[in-house]
Amino acid sequence: MTIFVTGGAGYIGSHTVIKLVENGYDVVVADNFSNSKKEAVKRTRELAGKDFPLYEIDICNERMLSKIFTIHDIDCVIHFAGLKAVGESVEKPLEYYKNNLNSTIALLSAMKSHNINNIIFSSSATVYRPDNKMPLTEDSLTGGCTNPYGWTKFMCEQIITDTVNATGRLTAVVLRYFNPIGAHESGRIGEDPQDTPNNIMPYIAQTAVGRREFLSVFGDDWDTVDGTGVRDYLHVVDLAEGHVAAIKYATENPNGTSIFNLGTGKGVSVLELVTAFEEATGVSVPRKITQRRPGDIATCYTATGKAKELLGWETKKTLKEACADTWNWQKNNPNGYV
Ligand code: NAD
Ligand code: UFG
Repeated sequence: MTIFVTGGAGYIGSHTVIKLVENGYDVVVADNFSNSKKEAVKRTRELAGKDFPLYEIDICNERMLSKIFTIHDIDCVIHFAGLKAVGESVEKPLEYYKNNLNSTIALLSAMKSHNINNIIFSSSATVYRPDNKMPLTEDSLTGGCTNPYGWTKFMCEQIITDTVNATGRLTAVVLRYFNPIGAHESGRIGEDPQDTPNNIMPYIAQTAVGRREFLSVFGDDWDTVDGTGVRDYLHVVDLAEGHVAAIKYATENPNGTSIFNLGTGKGVSVLELVTAFEEATGVSVPRKITQRRPGDIATCYTATGKAKELLGWETKKTLKEACADTWNWQKNNPNGYV
């Protein structure tokens, strides 16, 4: 079975490609390197022990997609490609709507023309309304997004669902990720933000390695265990395995859209995460409490029942392992892939 992986040079895509190859799938990767490096693909090939085709294209380009689908007999698409920085999406909404929506539309159109009927889509916990009760289930209310990035995921889910309903032969698995952290155990690939990290884990790692002076903890007056924000941090390798489970599920349950939350089910505060990192690595992370970040919520974690029952998937790796693997990547690659 051949899987077309858009955004396969990125953080989650590269880890997933390795898991796909490990599970016997053939892989074709496409990326425009707007937020990644070719070195990531080189190392992914090394770790996978297999040379797979790579196309440097923009996924918004339906003509190029069509060409690739003529060359390769694709069974399933995993659509990772997209812009993902929440803050940047507020400043550049059109770039986000253009890239994330047009890529999804072009991909679905090209898939339709070439009779490719399975898609796994990278969505996000950010599609849930901020006022839901925790833990979030797949039936929790969506919408009311606080930023354009979140709306792009919400809209792409709708576009996919409508296309599935219209064609009657498409199978879509929408995966709503919680907070992926960690890196491949080899320390060869990992998260490499191109600018100042928005997300906490790369910020912690870059502080630990000396690239940042201190971590700003965005508020200690939230209604949580210690006043800092609580999130559901899952190891990226577990998340990668979630995609393998999703492909199997799509193959065994054709036609329709299925939605799954992928997370650990456990909420961890910012201070708990910093402590876990320090304990796992023996490296201290200077921190300062600063103001709340606009758009943040106190707590976000998932219920895990649906993914366990239907995908047969749950996280295996601990927070400590995720911290140790993040550090292994960062200390071996202090400046990322450069
Ligand atoms: P990433 O930026 O590391 O990877 C995305 C990849 O897509 C990059 O390699 C980028 O160059 C590529 N890309 C972007 N637009 C493209 C286009 N038009 N054509 C071709 N390639 C393009 O991000 P990631 O963390 O690996 O995230 C992967 C997906 O998962 C994204 O869709 C993201 O929104 C989603 N997601 C991520 C998180 C997270 O915290 N990392 C959480 C929820 C959802
Ligand atoms: N935080 C800090 N300091 C930082 C960065 C973050 O204290 O420098 C705090 C935040 O306030 C929050 C927690 O750390 O309490 C996690 O923040 P992240 O930015 O790492 O993650 P978010 O939960 O805000 O958002 C992330 C992705 C979204 C995705 C969402 C759910 O950025 O794209 O997870 O999957 F939608």
